[in-house]
Amino acid sequence: MATLLARHAQRPGALLPLLHDVQDALGYVPADSVPLISEGLGLSRAEVHGVISYYHFFRSTPPGRQVVQVCRAEACQACGSEALMAQAERLLGCAPHATRADGAVSLEPVYCLGLCASSPAIQINDRVHARVTPERLARLVSDMAV
Ligand code: FES
Repeated sequence: MATLLARHAQRPGALLPLLHDVQDALGYVPADSVPLISEGLGLSRAEVHGVISYYHFFRSTPPGRQVVQVCRAEACQACGSEALMAQAERLLGCAPHATRADGAVSLEPVYCLGLCASSPAIQINDRVHARVTPERLARLVSDMAV
């Protein structure tokens, strides 16, 4: 944390890049990092917490060993992402915004993966998948072996 704070502390608008770096490093932004970030950037704890809770992207708890993200933004919604999310929930045994009890997988809604022209899109771990049909989602989840 000290290294990340040192990297960002003097930059204007440092909070978001710092939170991204923390989540990249740890997989989430731990609650006990909020006071450190607050002090390091000269912001109130409420400001830091407010940004973490406002952006769906940031996690406050550790993710599962694998992460499935289903795009819920407009283009993907128009192409069936709500049904894909419901299917993913059934196939993974995991509610949206949650991690399965065994820690194997997290299911997260996200708001645009940059593949709007090829909707609906999902991301499994670091790999994005475009034009995902129900059949393709079933194959992808099966290949995850969760
Ligand atoms: Fe889903 Fe952009 S709206 S990828």
